[in-house]
Amino acid sequence: MYICICNQVNDRQIADAVRGGARSLDDLRCELDVATCCGKCADDARRVVENTLVAAAADTSLYYDATA
Ligand code: FES
Repeated sequence: MYICICNQVNDRQIADAVRGGARSLDDLRCELDVATCCGKCADDARRVVENTLVAAAADTSLYYDATA
């Protein structure tokens, strides 16, 4: 799904950027040009960052090794 229409950036691209180290809207601006035109996508882009980080944290807990 497109998040930033002005720059044709979708949620998968944002999630990939987060998995690659992006943590903020500023990071997304630098990497993908998200929210650099009208800015209407800023809240949705932040939401994708948060959801991706939450999902990543949940995945990590699945692989936690209590014996280590
Ligand atoms: S929709 Fe992202 S800058 Fe306009």
